[in-house]
Amino acid sequence: MVKVAVVEGDGIGHEVVPVARDILAAVRPDFEFFDVEVGYGLWERTGFACGEETMAELRSADAILFGAITTPPDPDYRSVLLKIRHDLDLYANVRPIQGGDVDIVIVRENTEGLYSGIEWREPDRACTVRVVTRRGSERVARYACTLAKSRRHLTVGNKANVLKSDCLFVEVCMAEAARANVPCTARYIDALCLDVLMHPDRYDVIVTTNIFGDILSDAAAYLVGGLGMLPSANIGERHALFEPVHGSAPDIAGQNIANPIAAIRSAAMLLRHVGDPASAAAVEGAVRRVVDVGVRTPDLGGTAGTREFGAAVLREVGRGKA
Ligand code: IPM
Ligand code: MG
Repeated sequence: MVKVAVVEGDGIGHEVVPVARDILAAVRPDFEFFDVEVGYGLWERTGFACGEETMAELRSADAILFGAITTPPDPDYRSVLLKIRHDLDLYANVRPIQGGDVDIVIVRENTEGLYSGIEWREPDRACTVRVVTRRGSERVARYACTLAKSRRHLTVGNKANVLKSDCLFVEVCMAEAARANVPCTARYIDALCLDVLMHPDRYDVIVTTNIFGDILSDAAAYLVGGLGMLPSANIGERHALFEPVHGSAPDIAGQNIANPIAAIRSAAMLLRHVGDPASAAAVEGAVRRVVDVGVRTPDLGGTAGTREFGAAVLREVGRGKA
């Protein structure tokens, strides 16, 4: 029995996650779903965005389907998503950029780097410590190499010409690639951002540190129709969380116009993670066919609502099974 924790979160999370969950439930009626409330909405009501009890619920799941959480610029509010990634030790953030001829997978280190949480403010100075460890780099490099092994090659996005912390990251990644016998090149992240957009065919698996991966993945979304398209997996040794790359988008929340494809594809990644690649492919194929016949949300130039798009994918998945 696969137990899936469902976190809608905030904003459009309340719209796209139910769509993804219904599709999961349709392909896997044996899954057990349970809702977990986390986020800014909860914090406003109770003063807690995600306490230890909530963490225990998340830990009890085989996989977490996650929407998006609003991170307000409030000094008393620590990003819940970062807390969850950190506490569940979800060290590899896997972000496929796929569509048309583009097939790239960004593997972002997810627990350290500039997101180490070691930071402080003084009256006239503020510091954030960028921590890169051998262990943190090794495990994400190993994950990326395993992936690249069944694909083509690996690129290490870095700024080792300036940052000592990235010298260690590159060293470790190159060594892991050599051990795994994966062809590997190091590229400076600024040049890499441009080159990925101009020549996506040159890239396959890209491994990089936390914030570079954050920025690169949003930029690369340009290649495949925008942020509404990008799914992601946050992978640890014992836990895994699947979420769209986009945020809670409060500006369009509640209007039934958000594109649920990123959330649906995240559900497909969840299926693959629990060992059901056939259902994952069925869901991804259904999304593709629905888009191809012109059912699209406004961000893709269509007029379909979030729910209508979801219903069309559900019908298509059902047809595939018949
Ligand atoms: C992402 C987001 C998060 C990040 C924020 C919301 C904390 O931008 O998942 O890409 O920076 O990792
Ligand atoms: Mg981001």
